[in-house]
Amino acid sequence: MRKMTEQNLINGFGGESQAHMRYLHFARQAEKEDFPNVARLFRAIAHAEFIHAGDHYAELAHLDGGFVANSMAGFGPGDTKKNLSLAIAGEEYEITEMYPAFIEVARFQEEQTAMRSFEWAWGTEKMHRMLFEKAKDAVETGSDVELGPIQVCEICGYTAEGDAPDACPLCGVSKEKFVAFAFMHV
Ligand code: FE2
Ligand code: FE2
Ligand code: FE2
Repeated sequence: MRKMTEQNLINGFGGESQAHMRYLHFARQAEKEDFPNVARLFRAIAHAEFIHAGDHYAELAHLDGGFVANSMAGFGPGDTKKNLSLAIAGEEYEITEMYPAFIEVARFQEEQTAMRSFEWAWGTEKMHRMLFEKAKDAVETGSDVELGPIQVCEICGYTAEGDAPDACPLCGVSKEKFVAFAFMHV
């Protein structure tokens, strides 16, 4: 594999891994503040980032050893309002800078499967930004967000509210490959 795409996969794995973990901690904070739907959204999107990290990781099966991963992850956790701002900023960076650059490098280097992994993540992060913005609008008025089931594709991480699509718009798998994060009554 060409070195620059390889390093982008390593950094992408690092960024997605941190996003996964950050969102799980943000979910716990949202629960403390009694925003159960915001917490559920963080858990669903954390799962999508786990899928993205796994897709990038699978492209690195030829490696054997330790490598430094750089990520532009946002630091400085706070209350849920701040956490949603951090989440939106992170998704924004991936949408406007990181993945477009990774995709272009992979295209130039003719690394087709790495390019596909980056394109799946890029397509998903746009949905994440939109869902987090919806949650932030609600939390800014002091209420939990109103949200139907959140569906996550187990293959590409595609994330959408409502019923699972018959076929994933990003990777094409059928709806059985979606996992739902629905509201649980306690
Ligand atoms: Fe992601
Ligand atoms: Fe994301
Ligand atoms: Fe998919």
